[in-house]
Parts: sequence; structure tokens; C-alpha cells
Amino acid sequence: MVDAILGLQWGDEGKGKIVDYFAPRYDIIARFQGGPNAGHTLYVGGKKVVLHQIPSGVFHENTINLIGNGVVLDPVTLKRECDTVASFGVDVKKNLFISHRTHLILPTHRALDKASELQKGNDKIGSTLKGIGPAYMDKTGRNGLRVGDLLDKNFTTSYIRLRLKHQRLLDNFNFQEDITAWEEEFFDAIDFLRSLNVVNGEYFINEKIAAGKKVLAEGAQGSMLDIDFGTFPFVTSSNTTTSGVCNGLGVAPQKIREVMGVTKAYCTRVGGGPFPTELHDATGEELRKLGNEFGATTGRPRRCGWIDLVALKYACMINGVTKVIMTKADVLDKFEELKVCTGYEIDGNISENIPFQMTRHQIDPVLKSFPGWNTDTTQVTKIAEMPEKMKQYVDFINRFTGVNVSHISNGPGRDQIVAV
Ligand code: GDP
Ligand code: IMO
Ligand code: MG
Repeated sequence: MVDAILGLQWGDEGKGKIVDYFAPRYDIIARFQGGPNAGHTLYVGGKKVVLHQIPSGVFHENTINLIGNGVVLDPVTLKRECDTVASFGVDVKKNLFISHRTHLILPTHRALDKASELQKGNDKIGSTLKGIGPAYMDKTGRNGLRVGDLLDKNFTTSYIRLRLKHQRLLDNFNFQEDITAWEEEFFDAIDFLRSLNVVNGEYFINEKIAAGKKVLAEGAQGSMLDIDFGTFPFVTSSNTTTSGVCNGLGVAPQKIREVMGVTKAYCTRVGGGPFPTELHDATGEELRKLGNEFGATTGRPRRCGWIDLVALKYACMINGVTKVIMTKADVLDKFEELKVCTGYEIDGNISENIPFQMTRHQIDPVLKSFPGWNTDTTQVTKIAEMPEKMKQYVDFINRFTGVNVSHISNGPGRDQIVAV
């Protein structure tokens, strides 16, 4: 049996915290896509930790953490992160497993990401520059190197061959930076990676499922950044939606049970691309300040706006969401008035659907107003004690998407979550 936790917006919905909260109910937490572009924040014993490559179940002693074949893995980030979690007493040699089919991010992938973004100028995607796009291009282009290849005696030859190919591309981009130091770090990190548990991920996970173990698939990024269904080309390079769980772990669709979709009570986006409900005014600034909306991976300020129910309903449809988890509801505690987007006005017509190419249209959000609850909710532990006005806000969202909110998160802390 596999359940999934996925982002329903443009990432940073609070997936890390939610996975950490649910982790004790599962035997295995598995990342199935994305790479170190992800930044998942958890609080462990009151201390903040941001995970980029390791699944968010790593701080639970009896939980197995699997990096699936659908992930792209940067050994340098992984090594650094292993050191961080080790400082909390976690033994990664015991509870971290990596699929041998997982593709590697090479130093030249990072260089290519940077070179490609520079060339795009004003049209740049706002990539995290972690080499995600180029690594997935080498996967679908059938050039990439995988974790299993590290055990092959010809690894260095394969590396040099691919590196030369990348160098020609970099020369085309006129990329001049010296990446020798990146390569030194890389070779140091792959020695470390060789010492970790590399497994045949698809057999590993299916044998566990057959033995009755429970798996939680942890999504990175969000549905609106999905390579197929997101706001292309302002997206990431993987399937962030439920279908990615099957490809990214090697589990069959009928094994998937609950799909828990995470949304903020409002909306943010980091990087370029369309964002119909974005606020460029003092209210947007207030959301950024109260929500501490700065990227966990790059530190960039996140763009902020009202919750977009057109996009949320679409994400529920694509993912087959069975439960919605609403995070950062407490960030709205101080607002007199709240708004939700119920439609897109395009050329005088109102639509409840996501258009083919959002960047081609001027989209004016149709906004419905709600009175704010104006109450500190951060200490509330039972739904009965939540303000009536919050319940009305949530009820409206439930009816719009057709899926009910099952949990409301009211603070970053591990215990700040209320079942509905
Ligand atoms: P992820 O990428 O989806 O895991 O989310 P990030 O970790 O990038 O960003 C979410 C941020 O919101 C982190 O700083 C979390 O500590 C914080 N957070 C998560 N849930 C809540 C919540 O309910 N309330 C508040 N105030 N902060 C939250
Ligand atoms: P988590 O898992 C928010 C965004 C980048 C950029 C676009 C493409 O923490 O929610 P990429 O590096 O993938 O080439 O960048 O996607 N992006 C994210 N935004 N949260 C993330 O991950 C993101 N991962 C990528 O800002 O706009
Ligand atoms: Mg994040």
C-alpha cells in the first residue's frame, strides 16, 4: 500500500513538515522525483533543518528512507546533508537507501543550467541552478549516468565521455567559469555515495509492499510546476503529480491509496512564470512578512498572493487528491479581509479552467471576499476551537474543489496541526 503527499501549488506548501508529521504511521518514506531544487523544512527538537535530497522521514528511527529512481541526485548535496542529519544522531547507513537507477547530477549539469538560464535573459525560468533540467535531459536523451554506474569499473571513462559532450555545449553557450573545484567535490562525494546502501529500488519497495509495509511517497515541487500539467515552460523537469509516483518508484497505480495534497491557505511562487493571484501591493508584502516567505533552497523572496481555487481544483483533478491538507492558516490570523480566486477573466470571458498557455493571456482573477478571523490560532489543538470564520473559509474551498480539507496546519512546529 502506498499513500502520497504532494504539493498542489507552485511548491513550498509545507510538504516537509506534513511528511514528518505523518511519518510515524508509515514504514518507508520515499522521494520519487525532483532533486536538490527541493527544500523541505522540518523542526527537529525545536531546531530547523532543510532537506534537499533525503526524504523527510529521516529523523524517525524506525523508518526506512528511499531515494527512488525518479529522483536526480547530486552526490555533493547528499554528502553535505548526510553530515547534517548525522549531527542529529541519525545513522544514514542504517535507514537511507538509494535506487541504483537514480540519475546523477554532474558538475557540468549545474554549469549547463546556469549557462542556459543566462542565455534566456528576461525569459529565464528562475531555476534553482541545481542542474535539474540538464540532468533530466540526459536521462530522456539516454546519456545520463546512474547511481548503479558508480560500481562499474568504467565509471570514470563514462564520466569523461559525457563531460566532453557537456563541454561542447558549454562552449556553445560561451560559458567560461572554472568548475575544477566542483569536480573535486563531486569525486569526493561519489566515494561517499559508494559507501551508502544502493539497492534495486523497484524490487526493494515491491517486496516491502508485499510484506504489508506501508509506504509514503513524498513529492517535491508542486503540481503547477509539473513538466506536463504545470505552467510550461515555467516548470521543473519532472512529473510532480501522482503519476510520478509510479514511474519514480516502480510501483503500480493500483497500489496507490490516499493522495494527500498540500496547499497553503494562500499562495506563493518562487522564480518566473504566471501567477494570476499575485499581489504586488502592501497585502502581498504582509503575506511575505508574516509567512516568512523566503526560499528554503535559494533564499529568494517568494511571490505572494491569494489562494487560487482554479489552480487548486485542477491540481486535485490531475492528482486524484483524496484529502487536502491546508498549511500556514495561521499566517492569515491578522488579516481583516481574505480573498480567494474562483475564476479567470480572459478577454472578457470568465473561465474555471486552466488555459493552455497562461503566459499568452492577460488573466484577471475573479476574487471572492471573506471576513478574516482576526484571532491567534497558533495554539489551537482541536477543530472545535478554530474560529467559525476560518471554518467558513475552509468549507467554501472544500465545496469548490470537491475534496475536503482533512488537516489544518497552524504553525511550523511539529505539533501545530489540527485534524478536521
Ligand atoms: P516544502 O518545500 O513544501 O517542504 O515547504 P518549505 O519548507 O519550502 O516552506 C514551508 C515553510 O513554511 C517552512 O519554513 C516551514 O517551516 C513553514 N511552515 C510549514 N507549515 C507551516 C504552518 O502551518 N504555519 C507556518 N507559519 N509556517 C509553516
Ligand atoms: P519544494 O520541493 C518552489 C521552481 C524554481 C523555478 C522552477 C524551475 O521545496 O517545494 P528548477 O530548479 O527545477 O529548474 O526550477 O521551479 N522550483 C521550486 N519552487 N519549491 C520547490 O521545491 C521548487 N523546485 C523548483 O524556482 O521557478
Ligand atoms: Mg520548499
